[in-house]
Amino acid sequence: MSVTYSSYLKVDELLQCQKPLSEGPEHDELLFIIIHQSYELWFKQVLHELDFLVRLFNAGDRNRALHTLKRVDTIYRTLIQQVDILETLTPLEFMSFRDRLSTASGFQSFQFRELEFLYGAKDARKLENYEPGSDHYQRLQKRLQAPTLWDAFLNFLAHEGHKVPESELNRDFSQVAEPSPAVQKILIDVYRNDPLVSEICEALVDIDTSLQQWRYRHVKMVERTIGSKMGTGGSAGVGYLQGTLFRPVFPDLWAIRSEF
Ligand code: HEM
Repeated sequence: MSVTYSSYLKVDELLQCQKPLSEGPEHDELLFIIIHQSYELWFKQVLHELDFLVRLFNAGDRNRALHTLKRVDTIYRTLIQQVDILETLTPLEFMSFRDRLSTASGFQSFQFRELEFLYGAKDARKLENYEPGSDHYQRLQKRLQAPTLWDAFLNFLAHEGHKVPESELNRDFSQVAEPSPAVQKILIDVYRNDPLVSEICEALVDIDTSLQQWRYRHVKMVERTIGSKMGTGGSAGVGYLQGTLFRPVFPDLWAIRSEF
């Protein structure tokens, strides 16, 4: 049989994946499921792009690296806008099915945690939310040990002839990289003398800004939907989420901005 739109995209299988748990079911549960599933699909795509980007940095491919960064940020801008849709869900509408979520929460999104690790926000405690030995646990464990996007970028800078300290290139990848005055000096030089690599730096700042914007939009959306209630994942809810705001993933790129 020839390939059709539905067979290629597995549309029938895809449309079988939305299973509301509420009685009726409640009208608004479908929106809640579909929006989360769309996020997970985009997270899959972003992981795919960032893994490619790490390879591009390691291969010293400036142009494709920049192109890929721009694509990733365009995806994030779309993800930020999607919060608008969830904001049409009133507290009453959400309450019509919230109990059915039990302890399920975005907090448990393993792809979101993989992305955090890849960006450099390493935290071994995050693994505690997954069954040891499970596929999700193993994926996260691998990401925890692997070099981050920033490590790949530093490799790229070294490849470009910059004197990145050995201690930065061969660090313990399972830990968060501390801001580095030596790297900041290199970045200032890049901004002054290398237009294309400085554009790559700006594209990294775009992504960092988008990540922070998503968190801000998410927490405001949560506040208007559940107010000061606890999260289904067991956290304090809005209070916990506020603690995750304004934390850049590429701090060295922010530290240098007052140096020009
Ligand atoms: C009505 C909609 C939503 C509500 C009320 C909500 C609420 C919350 C709350 C209260 C938390 C804190 C953890 C907890 O105790 O559960 C949380 C975390 C989280 N949510 Fe949402 N959320 C919503 C939609 C979404 C969507 C659409 C996504 C997209 C994937 C998402 C992704 C996340 C992630 C990744 C975290 C973990 C953040 C972190 O630990 O840094 N949420 N959410």
